[in-house]
Amino acid sequence: MPKDAPLRPLRLGVNIDHVATVRNARGGAVPDPVRAAKLAEEAGADGITAHLREDRRHISDKDIEALMDALTLPLNFEMAATDEMQAIALRHKPHAVCIVPERREERTTEGGLEVAREENKLAHFIAPLAEAGCRVSIFIAADQRQIDAANRIGASVIELHVGAYCDAVSENRSSEASEELARLTDMARYADSLGLEVHAGHGLTYESVAPIAALPEVVELNIGHFLIGEAIFLGLDPAIKEMRRLMDAARNSGVMS
Ligand code: PXP
Repeated sequence: MPKDAPLRPLRLGVNIDHVATVRNARGGAVPDPVRAAKLAEEAGADGITAHLREDRRHISDKDIEALMDALTLPLNFEMAATDEMQAIALRHKPHAVCIVPERREERTTEGGLEVAREENKLAHFIAPLAEAGCRVSIFIAADQRQIDAANRIGASVIELHVGAYCDAVSENRSSEASEELARLTDMARYADSLGLEVHAGHGLTYESVAPIAALPEVVELNIGHFLIGEAIFLGLDPAIKEMRRLMDAARNSGVMS
């Protein structure tokens, strides 16, 4: 990206999975993820993200249906590369699908997808989704091998897993945080040079968001757990507005830390 290129807008996708986590702790209907999505929209989110996991531990099939009906914002549907999820995505045709690795025993999506190892399978898997008009994104580590593979299978977007960077920030491991950030910076630039759209997500907080928001190639951040946690103290609207403010300030000033 040339030095004097105009700033690209940075979108905020709000992940509402953990509104459903709280609801499911008791069963029943509250808190309602669709209500959270509507509030997120009013607070300035550019999109809503929801992950329908194989074990349905948070978002349910009914939630996806309700979101598709109620949302005016684009829905980014996170899913594992399984036949069941592909059929659901093809039925709803959300604006975007993000393919993530999934293991039943994990608490959250712990790493990026191993695209390089499963190139053929994934190329066949994403083709019908792209043909159906969904923007296909692949959630990967900041690793050139994975970026090359994502490019070869025909993905239009990669989402960089920033979890290791965020963990290092929150645990005050500053030299690791700098190393992770340097890797993310290089790989965002590299992916952009291949013509891939670059997103980032996982574990972002008020403390860690600025350097990622300042990466000029990154055009979307997907943030969930921290925002839903902050909403307990501040309310969802101020929690999202503060994230938006920090993102915009970093983007506009190019502040890297
Ligand atoms: N992006 C992807 C691909 C994810 O899998 C997740 C977690 O579901 C997120 C972003 C959001 O991560 P967090 O909830 O830690 O903000």
